[in-house]
Amino acid sequence: MPVTTCIFDAYGTLFDVAAAARIAAKEPGREEFAAKWPQIAADWRSKQLQYTWLRAVSDTHIDFWKVTQHGLDYALEAAGLSSPELRERLLSLYWELSAFPEVPAMLAELKAAGLSTGILSNGSPEMLNGAVESAGIGELLDAVLSVESIGVFKPHASVYAMVEDRFGTTPEQVLFVSSNGWDASYASRHGFQTVWVNRAGEPMDRLPSDPQFTMSDLTGIPELARTL
Ligand code: LAC
Repeated sequence: MPVTTCIFDAYGTLFDVAAAARIAAKEPGREEFAAKWPQIAADWRSKQLQYTWLRAVSDTHIDFWKVTQHGLDYALEAAGLSSPELRERLLSLYWELSAFPEVPAMLAELKAAGLSTGILSNGSPEMLNGAVESAGIGELLDAVLSVESIGVFKPHASVYAMVEDRFGTTPEQVLFVSSNGWDASYASRHGFQTVWVNRAGEPMDRLPSDPQFTMSDLTGIPELARTL
Protein backbone atom coordinates (compact mmCIF):
# COMPACT_ATOMS: atom_id res chain seq x y z
CA MET A 1 0.00 0.00 0.00
CA PRO A 2 1.49 3.39 -0.96
CA VAL A 3 2.65 5.79 1.72
CA THR A 4 0.43 8.85 2.12
CA THR A 5 1.85 10.30 5.32
CA CYS A 6 5.40 10.92 6.59
CA ILE A 7 5.74 11.29 10.34
CA PHE A 8 8.90 12.42 12.10
CA ASP A 9 10.20 12.12 15.62
CA ALA A 10 11.31 15.58 16.80
CA TYR A 11 14.33 15.58 19.12
CA GLY A 12 17.43 14.16 17.48
CA THR A 13 15.57 13.52 14.22
CA LEU A 14 14.45 16.96 12.96
CA PHE A 15 16.10 19.01 15.72
CA ASP A 16 19.72 18.76 16.77
CA VAL A 17 19.57 18.04 20.53
CA ALA A 18 23.30 18.57 21.02
CA ALA A 19 23.03 22.13 19.67
CA ALA A 20 22.12 23.67 23.04
CA ALA A 21 25.28 22.43 24.79
CA ARG A 22 27.45 23.05 21.71
CA ILE A 23 26.36 26.70 21.46
CA ALA A 24 26.68 27.35 25.20
CA ALA A 25 30.18 25.84 25.20
CA LYS A 26 31.36 28.53 22.75
CA GLU A 27 30.13 31.42 24.89
CA PRO A 28 32.71 33.48 26.81
CA GLY A 29 33.40 32.51 30.45
CA ARG A 30 32.36 28.88 30.11
CA GLU A 31 35.79 27.21 30.07
CA GLU A 32 34.88 24.44 32.51
CA PHE A 33 31.68 23.63 30.64
CA ALA A 34 33.52 23.78 27.30
CA ALA A 35 35.90 21.06 28.54
CA LYS A 36 33.06 18.78 29.60
CA TRP A 37 30.12 19.55 27.30
CA PRO A 38 30.07 16.41 25.10
CA GLN A 39 29.69 14.15 28.16
CA ILE A 40 27.12 16.49 29.71
CA ALA A 41 25.07 16.57 26.48
CA ALA A 42 25.19 12.77 26.24
CA ASP A 43 24.18 12.31 29.91
CA TRP A 44 21.41 14.91 29.54
CA ARG A 45 19.87 13.10 26.58
CA SER A 46 20.35 9.65 28.03
CA LYS A 47 18.79 10.53 31.41
CA GLN A 48 15.97 12.46 29.73
CA LEU A 49 15.04 9.34 27.72
CA GLN A 50 15.48 6.93 30.64
CA TYR A 51 13.13 9.07 32.72
CA THR A 52 10.47 8.98 29.97
CA TRP A 53 10.60 5.16 29.88
CA LEU A 54 10.48 4.86 33.67
CA ARG A 55 7.57 7.27 33.91
CA ALA A 56 5.70 5.41 31.16
CA VAL A 57 6.07 1.96 32.76
CA SER A 58 5.29 3.21 36.28
CA ASP A 59 2.28 5.35 35.26
CA THR A 60 3.87 8.47 36.80
CA HIS A 61 3.68 10.84 33.82
CA ILE A 62 4.91 14.42 33.97
CA ASP A 63 5.50 16.54 30.89
CA PHE A 64 8.63 16.40 28.76
CA TRP A 65 9.77 19.85 29.81
CA LYS A 66 10.06 18.69 33.43
CA VAL A 67 11.78 15.46 32.36
CA THR A 68 14.20 17.54 30.28
CA GLN A 69 15.06 19.66 33.33
CA HIS A 70 15.52 16.57 35.50
CA GLY A 71 17.88 15.04 32.93
CA LEU A 72 19.93 18.24 32.79
CA ASP A 73 20.11 18.54 36.59
CA TYR A 74 21.44 14.99 36.79
CA ALA A 75 24.00 15.61 34.02
CA LEU A 76 25.29 18.87 35.55
CA GLU A 77 25.60 17.32 39.00
CA ALA A 78 27.41 14.29 37.57
CA ALA A 79 29.90 16.70 35.94
CA GLY A 80 30.38 18.65 39.18
CA LEU A 81 28.84 21.85 37.76
CA SER A 82 26.28 23.80 39.76
CA SER A 83 25.81 27.16 38.02
CA PRO A 84 22.12 28.25 37.96
CA GLU A 85 22.99 30.67 35.15
CA LEU A 86 24.41 27.86 32.97
CA ARG A 87 21.35 25.70 33.71
CA GLU A 88 18.99 28.50 32.62
CA ARG A 89 21.03 29.18 29.49
CA LEU A 90 21.00 25.52 28.41
CA LEU A 91 17.26 25.25 29.02
CA SER A 92 16.51 28.40 27.07
CA LEU A 93 18.62 27.14 24.14
CA TYR A 94 16.57 23.91 24.17
CA TRP A 95 13.50 25.94 23.14
CA GLU A 96 15.18 27.08 19.97
CA LEU A 97 17.14 24.04 18.82
CA SER A 98 18.22 24.27 15.20
CA ALA A 99 16.85 21.82 12.65
CA PHE A 100 19.37 19.65 10.78
CA PRO A 101 20.37 21.47 7.57
CA GLU A 102 18.51 19.16 5.15
CA VAL A 103 15.16 19.40 6.99
CA PRO A 104 13.38 22.34 5.22
CA ALA A 105 14.14 21.11 1.66
CA MET A 106 13.26 17.52 2.56
CA LEU A 107 9.86 18.55 4.00
CA ALA A 108 9.19 20.83 1.01
CA GLU A 109 9.88 17.93 -1.36
CA LEU A 110 7.42 15.70 0.52
CA LYS A 111 4.74 18.38 0.36
CA ALA A 112 5.39 18.94 -3.37
CA ALA A 113 4.89 15.19 -3.91
CA GLY A 114 1.45 15.47 -2.25
CA LEU A 115 2.31 13.66 0.99
CA SER A 116 1.00 14.68 4.41
CA THR A 117 3.68 15.47 6.98
CA GLY A 118 3.78 15.67 10.74
CA ILE A 119 5.70 15.35 14.00
CA LEU A 120 4.94 12.72 16.65
CA SER A 121 6.91 13.55 19.76
CA ASN A 122 7.27 13.22 23.50
CA GLY A 123 7.76 17.01 23.54
CA SER A 124 5.14 19.21 25.16
CA PRO A 125 3.09 21.30 22.70
CA GLU A 126 4.83 24.50 23.87
CA MET A 127 8.34 23.07 23.41
CA LEU A 128 7.47 21.70 19.98
CA ASN A 129 5.92 24.99 18.86
CA GLY A 130 9.08 26.81 19.99
CA ALA A 131 11.35 24.49 18.02
CA VAL A 132 9.12 24.42 14.92
CA GLU A 133 8.88 28.21 14.91
CA SER A 134 12.57 28.82 15.42
CA ALA A 135 13.38 26.36 12.61
CA GLY A 136 10.79 28.08 10.36
CA ILE A 137 9.18 24.77 9.28
CA GLY A 138 5.60 25.30 10.52
CA GLU A 139 4.20 25.75 6.99
CA LEU A 140 5.70 22.43 5.91
CA LEU A 141 3.95 20.37 8.61
CA ASP A 142 0.28 19.34 8.59
CA ALA A 143 0.26 18.34 12.28
CA VAL A 144 2.45 18.51 15.36
CA LEU A 145 1.29 15.69 17.64
CA SER A 146 2.41 15.69 21.28
CA VAL A 147 2.04 12.79 23.70
CA GLU A 148 0.68 15.33 26.20
CA SER A 149 -2.77 14.79 24.70
CA ILE A 150 -2.73 11.17 25.98
CA GLY A 151 -0.37 11.51 28.98
CA VAL A 152 2.10 8.69 28.31
CA PHE A 153 5.51 8.66 26.60
CA LYS A 154 6.83 6.58 23.69
CA PRO A 155 7.04 3.71 23.06
CA HIS A 156 3.57 3.11 24.53
CA ALA A 157 1.45 1.70 21.68
CA SER A 158 -1.22 4.36 22.15
CA VAL A 159 1.28 7.05 21.11
CA TYR A 160 1.76 5.58 17.61
CA ALA A 161 -2.02 5.16 17.24
CA MET A 162 -2.36 8.97 17.48
CA VAL A 163 -1.18 9.16 13.87
CA GLU A 164 -4.05 7.08 12.46
CA ASP A 165 -6.52 9.03 14.61
CA ARG A 166 -5.29 12.35 13.24
CA PHE A 167 -4.71 11.44 9.59
CA GLY A 168 -7.31 8.70 9.04
CA THR A 169 -4.65 6.36 7.62
CA THR A 170 -3.91 2.70 8.13
CA PRO A 171 -0.51 2.04 9.77
CA GLU A 172 1.03 0.76 6.52
CA GLN A 173 0.27 4.07 4.78
CA VAL A 174 2.59 5.81 7.26
CA LEU A 175 6.35 6.22 6.85
CA PHE A 176 7.70 6.90 10.34
CA VAL A 177 11.17 8.39 10.66
CA SER A 178 13.22 8.49 13.87
CA SER A 179 16.85 8.84 14.86
CA ASN A 180 16.07 6.82 17.99
CA GLY A 181 16.49 3.15 17.11
CA TRP A 182 14.07 2.09 19.87
CA ASP A 183 11.42 4.53 18.57
CA ALA A 184 11.72 3.23 15.00
CA SER A 185 11.60 -0.35 16.33
CA TYR A 186 8.34 0.10 18.22
CA ALA A 187 6.86 2.10 15.33
CA SER A 188 7.63 -0.94 13.12
CA ARG A 189 5.94 -3.17 15.63
CA HIS A 190 2.89 -0.88 15.43
CA GLY A 191 2.75 -1.55 11.69
CA PHE A 192 4.27 1.64 10.26
CA GLN A 193 6.87 1.51 7.53
CA THR A 194 9.97 2.85 9.27
CA VAL A 195 13.31 4.54 8.76
CA TRP A 196 16.00 4.71 11.41
CA VAL A 197 18.21 7.76 10.83
CA ASN A 198 21.48 6.56 12.26
CA ARG A 199 23.73 9.63 12.00
CA ALA A 200 26.33 8.31 14.45
CA GLY A 201 26.68 4.78 13.06
CA GLU A 202 25.36 3.16 16.24
CA PRO A 203 24.51 -0.55 16.52
CA MET A 204 20.85 -1.49 16.17
CA ASP A 205 18.90 -1.91 19.40
CA ARG A 206 17.88 -5.46 20.29
CA LEU A 207 14.10 -5.08 20.50
CA PRO A 208 11.00 -6.97 19.31
CA SER A 209 10.98 -5.41 15.80
CA ASP A 210 13.68 -3.86 13.63
CA PRO A 211 13.29 -0.69 11.55
CA GLN A 212 12.82 -1.53 7.84
CA PHE A 213 15.25 1.04 6.46
CA THR A 214 18.36 2.76 7.79
CA MET A 215 19.73 6.06 6.48
CA SER A 216 22.55 8.31 7.63
CA ASP A 217 20.53 11.54 7.26
CA LEU A 218 17.13 12.73 6.00
CA THR A 219 17.93 13.59 2.39
CA GLY A 220 16.74 10.25 0.96
CA ILE A 221 13.31 10.30 2.66
CA PRO A 222 11.27 11.86 -0.21
CA GLU A 223 12.62 9.40 -2.76
CA LEU A 224 11.94 6.45 -0.46
CA ALA A 225 8.41 7.69 0.32
CA ARG A 226 7.64 7.96 -3.41
CA THR A 227 8.81 4.43 -4.14
CA LEU A 228 7.00 2.61 -1.30
C1 LAC B 1 10.78 12.69 20.73
C2 LAC B 1 12.01 12.14 21.39
C3 LAC B 1 11.92 10.70 21.68
O1 LAC B 1 10.83 13.72 20.05
O2 LAC B 1 13.10 12.34 20.56
O3 LAC B 1 9.71 12.07 20.91
